[in-house]
Parts: sequence; structure tokens; C-alpha cells
Amino acid sequence: MPQSFRPGQWALITGASSGFGRDFATLLAEQRVNLILTARRTEVMEADAKSLMQEHGIQVHVLPADLSRSEAREDLFRAITALGAQVDILINNAGFGVFGPYAETEWSRLDQMLQLDIVALSHLSSLVLPGMRARSEGYILQVASVGAYQATPGYAAYSAAKAYVLLMGEALNRELKGTGVRVTVLSPGVTATEFLQVSGQQPTLYQKLFMMKSRPVARLGLQALLRGKMSVVPGILNNVMVQLLRLTPRFLQANIAGLLMRNRS
Ligand SMILES: NC(=O)c1ccc[n+]([C@@H]2O[C@H](COP(=O)([O-])OP(=O)(O)OC[C@H]3O[C@@H](n4cnc5c(N)ncnc54)[C@H](OP(=O)(O)O)[C@@H]3O)[C@@H](O)[C@H]2O)c1
Repeated sequence: MPQSFRPGQWALITGASSGFGRDFATLLAEQRVNLILTARRTEVMEADAKSLMQEHGIQVHVLPADLSRSEAREDLFRAITALGAQVDILINNAGFGVFGPYAETEWSRLDQMLQLDIVALSHLSSLVLPGMRARSEGYILQVASVGAYQATPGYAAYSAAKAYVLLMGEALNRELKGTGVRVTVLSPGVTATEFLQVSGQQPTLYQKLFMMKSRPVARLGLQALLRGKMSVVPGILNNVMVQLLRLTPRFLQANIAGLLMRNRS
């Protein structure tokens, strides 16, 4: 079992302008993996690309894209091919949540979230898998959430989208067993990134107490991917919570998740 990725391999990291995406970029650069960084905001990615190239002697390309659009995903892959690169490692990380009562949320925002969190992740997997199968080697990390493990009032569509990511990724892991292609689902709990700011939620007491740093979470995801693990939940408390959920009736799961997400002021 490899302990690290091979220097010179290429990784495509989505959501590379912030949060986990930037940590995935640094951690892979430390293993001398070449990078393709994508997200919509270019400034941070350009600055990171410059310093990672200087520090690690790797190649880094920044290809901005709004991944919620199907044509943008096709264009991204044409651009990667034009660079003479191939995707050996796909970090399917770009995503966001929308917090608030579903009935009061604008459809356009939910639509964009579902396009990104579900459709883009599935489309990108579909675009890289034929090449990975042909080479009998490849790695895909699907970033889900602990929210995937139970219905979550306040994040109804987001937690359901992440349940899709979890189940799809775990099934792919099994489908691809023995092919040399590894698929792992990383399900973080609340982590210090721009996530809550984007979702529009004030951190609750539970979230403040459980908040993890993003670099160790990203590292754990990459280690699990190298090992070909089906799924990984970072942090002891998150793991305990996921295990306890298995023993809890479904109606209670949703009630508890709703209480934990409720802001008290
Ligand atoms: N932090 C947490 O508590 C937490 C917990 C569980 C799961 N997650 C998951 O972790 C993943 C990474 O999120 P994060 O926590 O690192 O949050 P973040 O700091 O907000 O990063 C999200 C990334 O997604 C990119 N993105 C958003 N919309 C996009 C679009 N339309 N096209 C392309 N890229 C887009 C953003 O870049 P641009 O805005 O520049 O496009 C940004 O780079 C997400 O899938 C999230 O659901 C996070």
C-alpha cells in the first residue's frame, strides 16, 4: 500500500480558492504532486500556485470555472487535455450549504447548490473514470459531510445532497474494487473554513465546541484515499456521533440534528 502519492502525478482540486481546497493543495504539493486548481475566484489560487511552485518545484495550473455549469466542466476538461495533463487524483471538494427553512429559500440558490454538490461531483467523476480505468490507477476523494448521516432540519437539501455523495462514493469504492482505482468519501464535521459564512448560519454552541481545523481533516482524507478506505469521518466526537446515530430511531435523529443546528440568541 503506497504511503504517499507519486511525485509527478497530477491532481485536480475543486474548490481550491478556500478552506479544505487550499489545504489539499498544500498537502499534495508537499508530496510533489502537480496541481490543477479550480474554483471561481482566481486571486488566492494564483498566489497559492506561485508559492507552491517555488517551494516544491512542481507544476501548478489555475483554471477558473463555475462548476455548477455543465459547459464549464466540459471546458475545464478540454483545457486540462490541452495542457498535456491527465487527472490521476480528483479531489471532488467544491461545495456549499444553504442554511434556513427550505420553504423560505430561493430556488435559484438551492438549484446552484444541487448542481454543484451533486451534479458537478458526479460529472467530474464520470469524466475522469474512463482514463483511470484504462491506466488501472486513479484516486477520487468525494467530500461529503457528517450531515449526510441524518436528515438535518435547516440544512434539508444540503444534508440530502451530501447523503447522495456518501452513498454514491461508497458504492463506487466497491464497484471499482480490484481495478486500481480508489474512491473514498470524506465526511467532515463542522470545520473552520468559509462554510458557515457562505451557508448563512451563525455558529451554534455545538458547532463552536466541535469545530475542527481544516488541515488535519484534509490530511486524514488523503491518507484514507491512499489506503483505499471506503469512508472516513474525521475527529473522535464526530465518529462517536455517527456511531450513536446507527442506534437512534430515524425520527429522533432528525429532531436531534434540528436542535443542534438551532441558534439561540
Ligand atoms: N467546513 C465545514 O464545516 C464542512 C463540513 C462538512 C463538509 N464540508 C464540505 O467541504 C467542502 C469544502 O468546503 P469548505 O468547508 O472548504 O468551504 P469554503 O471555504 O466555503 O470552500 C468552498 C469552495 O468551493 C468553491 N465553490 C463554491 N461554489 C463554486 C462554484 N459554483 N464553482 C466552483 N467552485 C465553487 C469555492 O470557491 P469560489 O467561491 O472561489 O468559487 C471554495 O473554494 C464542501 O463540499 C463542503 O460541503 C464542509
